[in-house]
Amino acid sequence: MEPEFLLTRRQVLATAASAVAVGALPKIGSTARLENSNPMEPKLVEVPSAIPEKVYTSERVGISRKTHDEHLKLWQGYANKTNEIRKALLEMGVPDPTKANQIYSQMRALKVDYTFAYEGLINHNIYFETLGGEGGPATGKTGELIVAAYGSFENWVADWKATGMAGRGWVYLAYDHAEKRVFNYIGDAQNTFPIWNHTLVLAMDVYEHAYFIDFGTARMKYIEAYLQCIDWDAVNALGERVTVG
Ligand SMILES: [Fe+2]
Repeated sequence: MEPEFLLTRRQVLATAASAVAVGALPKIGSTARLENSNPMEPKLVEVPSAIPEKVYTSERVGISRKTHDEHLKLWQGYANKTNEIRKALLEMGVPDPTKANQIYSQMRALKVDYTFAYEGLINHNIYFETLGGEGGPATGKTGELIVAAYGSFENWVADWKATGMAGRGWVYLAYDHAEKRVFNYIGDAQNTFPIWNHTLVLAMDVYEHAYFIDFGTARMKYIEAYLQCIDWDAVNALGERVTVG
């Protein structure tokens, strides 16, 4: 029987793979004051003041505490800029459509960079939530879906590594609600190549800041270390969480 995952009392209808579905229910980084329904008040996001302790277990394979602590500053920066843009949009008030312009306009600047800020936050939420495990073959429903899509976990690893070397910023494991399967997607930046009707369950940062301190330019060594640190229980829990409620 085809493995079911992430489905669907309320199927996610239109969500970018790198964006909304997981962002709606983050565990580590959170969207605060979601209960606030006043359109004149911004819904603010926040990230932890410290890296979750389990993430530091990656030191055993060479991804250092220093790397994570530096990375936290970038993660917090995405939250800060998300909030800044949300406030700016509110301050703009009801926009004048005649002032919007595709070459340059305030609306274009805010809306384009909002995707860079907010998806940067969401991707890092998932990155840090799913780090700190023992790696190894994927477990649970994620494991079943990976084997169903790639034939074996080893095949998936090869594809994940290749996608990681081919991307400029991110690699995503996302569940396709239409085809009911997972796929390794590439992201040059957090706001490039989004795809609809997917749920993001694993995000590997391959920007240099994620590995240069520890591995220099040897990205493959970082990817191989990363694979030994995936928390598959967290991946499975994340996948389940976005379908409940
Ligand atoms: Fe990053």
